[in-house]
This record gives sequence, structure tokens and C-alpha cells, in this order.
Amino acid sequence: MTSLTPLDEPALARLLEAAVAGADPLEVMPPVDGPPGWPPARREAFLAFHRARSLDPATAVERTWVIDVDGAAVGAARLEPHGDAVEAGVWLSRDARGRGIGKQVAALLLAEARASGAARFVASTTAGNHGARALLAGLGAGLTTEGDEVTAELRLGSAGGSAAAGREW
Ligand SMILES: CC(C)(COP(=O)(O)OP(=O)(O)OC[C@H]1O[C@@H](n2cnc3c(N)ncnc32)[C@H](O)[C@@H]1OP(=O)(O)O)[C@@H](O)C(=O)NCCC(=O)NCCS
Repeated sequence: MTSLTPLDEPALARLLEAAVAGADPLEVMPPVDGPPGWPPARREAFLAFHRARSLDPATAVERTWVIDVDGAAVGAARLEPHGDAVEAGVWLSRDARGRGIGKQVAALLLAEARASGAARFVASTTAGNHGARALLAGLGAGLTTEGDEVTAELRLGSAGGSAAAGREW
């Protein structure tokens, strides 16, 4: 079963383990100088990144969840408010990809986005990321490509809203 666990320190420790075991650093965090892979400094940077963005109330900009499948961490999902929109992000460890987990996570994130009252659900990826593009298109999002950047947008349904300008969720 796929579920989202709100990030806290114990969940962050499990998330780091999942990242080290099955993801490339560039898939899951901003670039940090140093040798490739997961040397200690990059692991520390991963923890600092999530503490600053989610756990420290003074600096938090997004909500992050650990993606658990049958109780084991396999990746992370996030929602970051931007005006009337929430920007979504997901990564899964290599072994967890291509098994329908991304689709389940996207549905859970959409429910969280709706519950937050956001009017739009947005995400961005790169033209070469076929998995992410297929996932976002499958949600019914409109995809716009500019150079290498692909932006996805889905309007979230609201009571009394107009259905004139695109697909409602
Ligand atoms: C992108 C990602 C989240 C997708 O999750 P996933 O669990 O692998 O995707 P799913 O198995 O749920 O598949 C969802 C849809 O995408 C399609 N898909 C998945 N991987 C694909 C690939 N590599 N190429 C083409 N289509 C792919 C599936 O066939 C499915 O389509 P369907 O609904 O028509 O059956 C995951 O692969 C991932 O974490 N990749 C690395 C990190 C990353 O790129 N994150 C996104 C950055 S924006």
C-alpha cells in the first residue's frame, strides 16, 4: 500500500536512506560540489535542505511527505504554495519506478492540494523525462514545452466554479 507520511526527523532519516540506496543526488536535491554519489557532506546537505524547506518553521516554504510502500520509504513528495497554485514534486528510488506508485502518489498529492484550497496544481520537468511527462499528462494536466522545460498545469475544481476553461478536478 502506498501512503504519504508527513516529514519529521525520523522520517527524514528514512528518506535519506532511500535516497542513498536508490537515487542520484541530482534527482533529489540541488547540486552540491564534491565527488559523485553520496559522500558525508552531500548527505548532510540533503538533511539541511529538507530541514530548511519543510521542518524549520522560520524558513519552511513547502510541505514534504515520505512516500511509504508497505511501510518502507521509497521517495518523497512535496507541495509548495505559489499564490493561488501549489507546485508539486515527486521522486522515487530506482526500484520503485515504473510500477504505478507515481500515479498513486499523484492522486494523493492532488487530494492534499484540493484540501489546501489551491486553485491550480502545477509541476515542471524536463523534455527528456518521459516518466514525469506521462504521469502529468495522465492526470489530465495541460503540458507546455519551452526549450527543455515542460510545465504542467491542472485547474482544481471548486464548488460553483466555471468549467469553461479546461478540465476540472
Ligand atoms: C517520474 C516518476 C515520479 C514517475 O513515477 P512512476 O511510479 O515511475 O510512474 P508510474 O509507474 O506511476 O507511471 C505513470 C505513467 O507514466 C508512464 N511511465 C512511467 N515511466 C515512464 C517512462 N520512463 N517512459 C515513458 N512512460 C513512463 C507509465 O506507463 C504510466 O502511464 P499510464 O498511466 O499510461 O500507464 C518516477 O519515475 C521518478 O521518480 N523518476 C525519477 C525522479 C524524477 O524524474 N522525478 C520527477 C521530476 S519532475
